[in-house]
Amino acid sequence: MEQKELKVSAIKNGTVIDHIPAQNLFKVISLLGLANIDNQVTFGTNLESHKLGRKAIIKVADKFFADDEINKIALVAPQAKLNIIKNYEVVEKKTVTVPDEINGIVKCFNPKCVTNHQPIATKFALVSRDPLALKCHYCEKVTTEKQMVIL
Ligand code: CTP
Ligand code: ZN
Repeated sequence: MEQKELKVSAIKNGTVIDHIPAQNLFKVISLLGLANIDNQVTFGTNLESHKLGRKAIIKVADKFFADDEINKIALVAPQAKLNIIKNYEVVEKKTVTVPDEINGIVKCFNPKCVTNHQPIATKFALVSRDPLALKCHYCEKVTTEKQMVIL
């Protein structure tokens, strides 16, 4: 087998989130609340990736995320791959799916929307996954993938 050099040390137990676009690493950290947990967190960024150009990776020791917790990152890291590690072995690989309801994260495309004028968090219902389309809970306008701006 091909010998691979690890840029970030292996973990014994926990979750490895791979294939994060490098420019969204800190958004993922924030969405998962990793700045405020006691677990060991290691990450690497601007690593080479054939798929993404430059990718980031996050390793969280002794943490196994619930699906709805991890799916929040689907908007900023749609190609993220989760590796569940138990006793140094990858026991499961998972992908992320955009949830049916999105709170915050994305800006409403409608300039007249109340969320663009008052300190109100955005809220959307998923209309389509591919291509992505989200309907605003407040103004009912649809924000499409091309129009999407991450907050
Ligand atoms: N990993 C880790 N600690 C371990 C085992 C794996 O940090 N004890 C990390 C690896 O460094 C890698 C990821 O978990 O980033 C997935 O491991 P593996 O499936 O062995 O790697 P690949 O085959 O390269 O994964 P893929 O091609 O699916 O991205
Ligand atoms: Zn709106």
